[in-house]
Amino acid sequence: SSDCCNREKQFYYRAQKFYEDVPASEEGMMGDFVEISNVDLEGSRQFLKRFGPGKAGTHCALDCGSGIGRVSKGVLLPVFEKLELADMMEHFLLHAHEEYLGEDADRVETYYCFNLQEFTPPKNKYDVIWMQWVACHLTDKDLMNFLFRCRKSLRPNGVIILKDNMARQGCKLDPIDSSISRHLDIMKVIIAKAGLEILAVQHQEGFPEIIMPVWMIAMKPV
Ligand SMILES: C[S@@+](CC[C@H](N)C(=O)[O-])C[C@H]1O[C@@H](n2cnc3c(N)ncnc32)[C@H](O)[C@@H]1O
Repeated sequence: SSDCCNREKQFYYRAQKFYEDVPASEEGMMGDFVEISNVDLEGSRQFLKRFGPGKAGTHCALDCGSGIGRVSKGVLLPVFEKLELADMMEHFLLHAHEEYLGEDADRVETYYCFNLQEFTPPKNKYDVIWMQWVACHLTDKDLMNFLFRCRKSLRPNGVIILKDNMARQGCKLDPIDSSISRHLDIMKVIIAKAGLEILAVQHQEGFPEIIMPVWMIAMKPV
């Protein structure tokens, strides 16, 4: 119905407006919780070790909803020869390229300034596709379709890794930044509908009790 479409438009519009005012910095990427960035990155590096080198290749990774490239810098660039970043905000990508990634920016092949709901990554290209704190900014349908397109852009043995806030119950909408946290079971249904099989699911340890649980999910084409 038109009501549904208007709400969807508003959902994306609000996120757009929200991130326009977010500074291109680690603080900006982490909201009020910049102090957990290192714990987060360490958890990600350990999780990636289980699926990256040796299993998946190390030629190229895609960082989706990369922002300034916090994950690229701390997790992906040390492992992959080449990287690509995708984010809807140009000022984040510019900061990544011009400053934040330093000399390693040379190994970034392409910056895609796109809304993920409208973005089709190139086919048969990536060993790992990383999606952190951005699945929450897509509607169920757009997330499923995006995962489906990502599936086609994996190289043989490639994996998709999704890391995000997961609601303790049901779905929770944050109207301030237009993000939806979903219960892990709901996320699993979306993943299955996208034709992906879950390889592992792991809770991120070491975060303060007051923040929403964060989980990492590794998946591959069925
Ligand atoms: C909370 S930040 C996380 C950044 C990065 N993944 C990290 O962990 O540091 C969310 C990022 O997703 C981007 N984003 C939000 N909605 C998006 C959309 N629909 N399409 C593309 N990027 C989006 C924002 O611009 C922002 O850079």
